[in-house]
Amino acid sequence: MKKLIAGNWKMNCSLEEAKLLIADVINGVYQNQALQGDNEFVIFPPFIYLPTVRHALGNHTFISFGAQDCSPHDKGAYTGDISASMLKDSACTYAIAGHSERRKYHCESNADIKAKAEQVIKNGMTAIVCIGETQEERDGGRAEEVVQKQLFESLPAGAHARNTVIAYEPVWAIGTGKTASETDILMMHSFIREALEEKLADAENMRILYGGSVNPENGPGILKTPNVDGVLVGGASLKAQDFLAIAG
Ligand code: PGA
Repeated sequence: MKKLIAGNWKMNCSLEEAKLLIADVINGVYQNQALQGDNEFVIFPPFIYLPTVRHALGNHTFISFGAQDCSPHDKGAYTGDISASMLKDSACTYAIAGHSERRKYHCESNADIKAKAEQVIKNGMTAIVCIGETQEERDGGRAEEVVQKQLFESLPAGAHARNTVIAYEPVWAIGTGKTASETDILMMHSFIREALEEKLADAENMRILYGGSVNPENGPGILKTPNVDGVLVGGASLKAQDFLAIAG
């Protein structure tokens, strides 16, 4: 299985910067054919730059793109929301559900995230469902319990390996420069794999990504860790060179 290298731009970039960044990513992947063979890249720009990224990618098939969030509703009077069918119409193939910043700043519950992920897969896209414990929960010895609860309660009905990806992102590692150790990642990803096996027939094929301060120095090692099928990169995805160096 190819590694999934996902770049979450979050709420960054001017329009001009977004154009330059996607152009640099495309050129970088073109110049290094080996990157294309081993990896699948997906970019998550802010909603408003989705058409810009789509236009820049044209017919390139080695980089996909998606949305950082989507509405849990089909359509209707939900001011400011963007539905999964709109994302599908905009040629997105992925959408993230339940990033810890949405859980924290928008008070999203596991039930909200499940509903969002269900909209994503119902519209033929792949949902990236994010889970991860806080520092306090880890220090309290509750990391596995918290992660399992989030996983089971956020997993969309009808999830299988081709429509759902899990991203394990310990909250304490996001944007902090504190990466989980390879041993911690190994243990948690194996735990998630086993938990998925309780629920799904094709759990061994479901991708589990790691996210949290992934950079060109630690990325290649993390990607070699068993049960790590890719990475979700925030800060380092804002420089094409750093983003691509993570893939090797
Ligand atoms: P970071 O963000 O790489 O900046 O830590 C990761 C994420 O939030 O997905």
